[in-house]
Amino acid sequence: MRPLRIGVIGLQFGMAHIEGAMRCGAEIAAICDCSAEHLRDAGERYGIPEEKRFSDYHALLERGDIDAVAVAVPDQMHRALACAFLDAGKHVLCEKPMALTREDTRAMIRAADASGRQLMIGQICRYTPAFEKAKALVSNGTLGEVYFLESEYAHDYMKLCDNWRADPLRHGVIGGGCHAVDLLRWLAGDPREVFAYGTHRLLPQVPYDDATVAVMKFDGDTMGKVFVSTGCKRDYTMRTVIYGTKGTLICDNTSPTMTLFTAGADGMAHEPEIIEVEVNNHNAAREFEAFADAILHGKPVMTDAREGARTVEVCLSIIESSATGKPVRPAYAF
Ligand SMILES: NC(=O)c1ccc[n+]([C@@H]2O[C@H](COP(=O)([O-])OP(=O)(O)OC[C@H]3O[C@@H](n4cnc5c(N)ncnc54)[C@H](O)[C@@H]3O)[C@@H](O)[C@H]2O)c1
Repeated sequence: MRPLRIGVIGLQFGMAHIEGAMRCGAEIAAICDCSAEHLRDAGERYGIPEEKRFSDYHALLERGDIDAVAVAVPDQMHRALACAFLDAGKHVLCEKPMALTREDTRAMIRAADASGRQLMIGQICRYTPAFEKAKALVSNGTLGEVYFLESEYAHDYMKLCDNWRADPLRHGVIGGGCHAVDLLRWLAGDPREVFAYGTHRLLPQVPYDDATVAVMKFDGDTMGKVFVSTGCKRDYTMRTVIYGTKGTLICDNTSPTMTLFTAGADGMAHEPEIIEVEVNNHNAAREFEAFADAILHGKPVMTDAREGARTVEVCLSIIESSATGKPVRPAYAF
């Protein structure tokens, strides 16, 4: 079978997709960035010849030598590029968050349905080794019934937000917090209701709260909490704790160990088990492998258009709740 031929658009975080695709044996058929400097830097770094470098993504649309693209441009452009490439018959791996509005997620779902191509949303935390292990421990019953789980996205954007991230639509809860929201959704399902508070005191340069806490309830009385801080004075973390009837797991995307407490015969949790785990919070190779596997074998991707849209729906509901002071029930009708 010939290797997949990939185009990558947006060459900052997009470089992770070049590396992920290369590690999986795909061919980089084209790279694109509207910044001449970023295009040259990525081209030189990965040895991509001049004739495969483009400054305008439209040039990639009609090329017959591209099977799929990775879209890593600012969030506001995800809809335009994803829809254009799907309409042109290409499979699309689109960066998270899928989009910043419900209107955009719906348009992307329609484009994916009409195209018959894969639209995978890059919720990369589902490939973080610690979170893959957490998912396995929930699924195989080690933790028993999960009754509460929490995750946080704490990442200092002090030097990261003097650009498209300062758009009021690009609230921290959707921009980065979508990772923690998606993780909770993956582990516990769709929350039925959310309630949130926010505060704004660390990043005066953005027009939205820089810290938000949201509580939520899932089916079966399971409770959840997400904390998002984009001005925090600490190193990046997605500390996550899962409380079940038989055990508790504490893990992170930046820690080489996870801590697992399980109840013994007396019903008590004694010494915790320390589980070593690879630290890889941007596991682009595993993410790309899943994308390629779905394309090559006609399988559905885990984070398809509707899955990406559900995560956006929860994020928007959290933002709405913290603005109105009222609980919000996310609407998953798409
Ligand atoms: N999965 C993750 O953990 C993760 C991490 C970082 C960023 N992201 C996402 O990746 C995307 C890009 O983020 P970033 O940090 O690389 O942003 P960035 O602003 O650093 O880089 C964006 C790049 O896209 C280029 N670009 C902008 N408009 C373009 C266009 N129309 N055509 C071609 N190139 C264009 C810019 O020149 C720039 O090189 C965003 O959606 C972001 O949310 C995801």
